[in-house]
Amino acid sequence: MKRVFSGIQPTGSPHIGNYLGALKNWAKIQYDYESIYCIVDLHAVTIYQEPKELRQKIEELAGMLLAIGIDPTHSSLVVQSAIPQHAELAWMLTCVTPVGWLERMTQYKAKSAAQETIGDGLLQYPVLMAADILLYNAAIVPVGDDQSQHLELARDIAGRFNSLYGETFVMPATHLPSVGARVMGLDEPDKKMSKSATGSGHAVSLLDPPEVIRKKIMRATTDSNPAVDFETMGAGVQNLLTIYQAFTGALDVDVRAHFSGMRYGDLKKQVAEAVVAALSPIQERYKQIMDETGYVAKVLDEGAKRITPIAAETVEVVKKAMGLYTAS
Ligand code: TYM
Repeated sequence: MKRVFSGIQPTGSPHIGNYLGALKNWAKIQYDYESIYCIVDLHAVTIYQEPKELRQKIEELAGMLLAIGIDPTHSSLVVQSAIPQHAELAWMLTCVTPVGWLERMTQYKAKSAAQETIGDGLLQYPVLMAADILLYNAAIVPVGDDQSQHLELARDIAGRFNSLYGETFVMPATHLPSVGARVMGLDEPDKKMSKSATGSGHAVSLLDPPEVIRKKIMRATTDSNPAVDFETMGAGVQNLLTIYQAFTGALDVDVRAHFSGMRYGDLKKQVAEAVVAALSPIQERYKQIMDETGYVAKVLDEGAKRITPIAAETVEVVKKAMGLYTAS
């Protein structure tokens, strides 16, 4: 059975962009593969995180991943730092990765521009990401569009390793959703919705209560038209329609027929209700999961136990390929 791997950082609070771009697909395709989903705390610390808060966010994010439908009896839900081979393989891959490849990454450029001192981890970030995927020889990686460049780099690193040391890694394929691969900020529809953006009207968090969701969507930036015009609409209206379509699964033709000419106030009400309807059951499950003392920790523990042998075996294979010291 082919393997699927993906990851999410335990920073900020997960939002509908994360859900529509990645998490919804994680749950949807999990039974078609051997699935590994990872909370990437080592990636999170490439930018300073308050330690107590980070520790708590890891657990909350795990609860949320269970709430959106990750089935721990089938999929392995794990925390990156619990499996030391992620960092170990990252080092080996760092040694075959030209610095120029890393300096070209758009996320590195954007994140480093916002820092006073740039930690080396920020530059190495995509190498660790390649290690996450290659450690399990994952064939499929479901992500949002903003990770496409990192995935391309992961394939380049795998290719370079294979050509230097012999065929070792499977080439991972990027798996994007057909609708919702890039959800934009509600307040700034020219920027992708982001966990770290601070504006209160920017993102809908997966845990926002219905009245907050309605308020944020009703305030979303549109354009100077009074009603939906598919020929001239701006990015804000397009984004609202994408959110609606991704949450409801409606077809393009039906969305067009239904919303053409609709006034923005009515469009927003319908989008808000679609989001509330989809998030309410997730929020209910989240509450039940978090109320069950010890449950999340048990799931994470079992996940790590299940997949550590795969990670250990890959590291052995890579060490042998590189001529590093192995016991046998
Ligand atoms: P992260 O934590 O930023 O985001 C988690 C997932 O959500 C997607 N996403 C979005 N999709 C659509 N619209 C948006 N506005 C939006 N914002 C975020 C992301 O594409 C991602 O799929 N580097 C990764 C984590 C990672 C990883 C990996 C992913 C580490 N190792 C290995 C795949 C494989 C990240 O920071 O995701």
